[in-house]
Amino acid sequence: MKVIVKENYDEMSKVCAQMIGSKVKEKPNIILGLATGSTPIGTYKELVKMYKEGQIDFSKITTFNLDEYVGLDKDNPNSYYYFMMENLFKWINIDLKNVNIPDGKALDLSKEVEEYENRLEKSGGVDVQILGIGGNGHIAFNEPGEYLNTKTSVVDLTEDTIIANSRFFNSLDEVPKKAISMGIGSILKSKEIILLASGKSKSKALFEFLTKDRITTYLPVSFLHLHSNLTVICDKDAYSLVEESCLCKKN
Ligand code: GLP
Repeated sequence: MKVIVKENYDEMSKVCAQMIGSKVKEKPNIILGLATGSTPIGTYKELVKMYKEGQIDFSKITTFNLDEYVGLDKDNPNSYYYFMMENLFKWINIDLKNVNIPDGKALDLSKEVEEYENRLEKSGGVDVQILGIGGNGHIAFNEPGEYLNTKTSVVDLTEDTIIANSRFFNSLDEVPKKAISMGIGSILKSKEIILLASGKSKSKALFEFLTKDRITTYLPVSFLHLHSNLTVICDKDAYSLVEESCLCKKN
């Protein structure tokens, strides 16, 4: 595992965008795994900037998003489809035929998750997966608990996540209680993973992950220890508890 600690959110975003940008240049038909949430917004902004400057061509890429809320239409401003359009897709020359995001309004959700996992498999697999991390250590919507799903599934969101994500909704009641999420196994199949973490609210989960070389379903991000090509890019705030513990050991 490689860990890159940057001064702040903007620096973190630039490093991540540079990495993604050079990978798209190397392999124009790359398959990118994309995340939502506040964390990757800066990375997407940088990628849009690079596109506008003529540095990258996105016309041949394929994307798979990690998750989507159950019950929200594509044109609902809180859906992850809408998020991706607003923050990335509508500003670059991506072919929308190559965009894959689970359909949270599918009538048959069991069929939807099965088909999503099949599509993922048939594509040959994600080349580079961008991941955020929940304050509770979740990745995508794989929530801490007694077990974790290996494949794309319909999941119940924990109270922590519903509260954390309510900042985007008018009220707590409006936050969907279920989502479709890639499973831990689906994520681990990516050839390369970049985990982003920014801010103090992520410091505890990041500390638990980076300082303990073990896996537990109660800290879903810990399963990334099983991946052989992982880069963590974080800012100083997210890294603060790890930093403190290193200082304590030195003194
Ligand atoms: C959300 C998403 C995750 C995301 C995480 C952190 O609920 N399902 O994919 O990584 O929680 O979000 P944020 O970046 O807004 O802190």
